Amino acid sequence: MSNKSTVRIVEVGPRDGLQNEKEMLSCNDKVQLIEALAKTGIQHIEAGSFVSPKWVPQMADSLQVMQGIQRLDNVRYAALTPNMKGFQQALEAGASEIAIFAAASESFSQKNINCSIEESLQRFIPIMDQAKKLNLPVRGYVSCILGCPYEGAITQDNAQLYFTQVKYVSQRLLDMGCYEVSLGDTIGTGTPGFTEQLLQVLLSDIPAAQLAVHFHDTYGQALANILIALQNGIFTIDSSIAGLGGCPYAKGASGNVATEDVLYMLQGMGIETGIHLTEVIKIGNWISQKLNRVNGSKVGLALQQ
Ligand code: HMG
Ligand code: MG
Repeated sequence: MSNKSTVRIVEVGPRDGLQNEKEMLSCNDKVQLIEALAKTGIQHIEAGSFVSPKWVPQMADSLQVMQGIQRLDNVRYAALTPNMKGFQQALEAGASEIAIFAAASESFSQKNINCSIEESLQRFIPIMDQAKKLNLPVRGYVSCILGCPYEGAITQDNAQLYFTQVKYVSQRLLDMGCYEVSLGDTIGTGTPGFTEQLLQVLLSDIPAAQLAVHFHDTYGQALANILIALQNGIFTIDSSIAGLGGCPYAKGASGNVATEDVLYMLQGMGIETGIHLTEVIKIGNWISQKLNRVNGSKVGLALQQ
């Protein structure tokens, strides 16, 4: 285990979580959620997404949400932007950071953003140019790092080829100027053995400090995979309050790993995050009730009052 004693949590619940919840949350509730999360000590919150409302109706009010938040100085409020139209809206919304998103799988790229991987990377170039001029930090995502809902699961036979593609897309995003790439196990099929193999491939050329991990927990593997990431020196972890969400273009994908579960594990390992777990648990229970769903955090369920 690399002996780093702090981890940065990127809370993606208000975006990745809510984008795939059946119940639509009101703009006011979204604002309340984001404000409450910021008060727990979380310093990076994905607050919205400027994508087509026809594709993802749950994110249609991201402008109002982001303009409605009472902001804290030390918190980054990030937004997803697939193209220049989304980028302009993110600026109008006052996003303190944006995220662009590509995939390691051609089929997923087509289904998710209606273009090939290469076309998506080309679309990001003007975004990167503008962001650079404005000094706006840009985070990159690579989806389908450990499997694709359309191209099937990784096997020992195709793993090396697949991981080479993940590395290629990650490097392109970093070369374009992303400060970090978040590795998305979009459908949560990844297991620790493949996670380890993937990280070996990536870390031979990419510094761990430029990588984050983003595990969906569909098969209950997320915490085990996160442990592998920590052992490999990756200390930025994406998670979602109460394990909300999934991905609208990845059938069957459940939410991200729950923030509460990650915090509990880190606390037990003596790793600091600066975040108050008990406050996060209260928010997780509140939002689960609002959305009429079972809390997707085991820790949230175990410690609820
Ligand atoms: P398209 O249909 O190819 O776009 O969609 P287009 O350029 O041909 O435009 C068609 C219409 O969409 C036009 O409107 C545009 O103005 C409008 P019309 O003339 O028909 O009225 N449009 C937009 N509207 C609002 N905001 C925009 C925008 N762009 C065009 N930014 C597009 C291409 C990328 C827009 C579409 O495919 C899309 O919105 N996809 C987003 C899908 C999505 O949000 N997926 C979930 C996020 S990714 C994810 O969850 C994975 C991640 O968590 C990591 C992981 O887990 O792996 C990040
Ligand atoms: Mg995701």
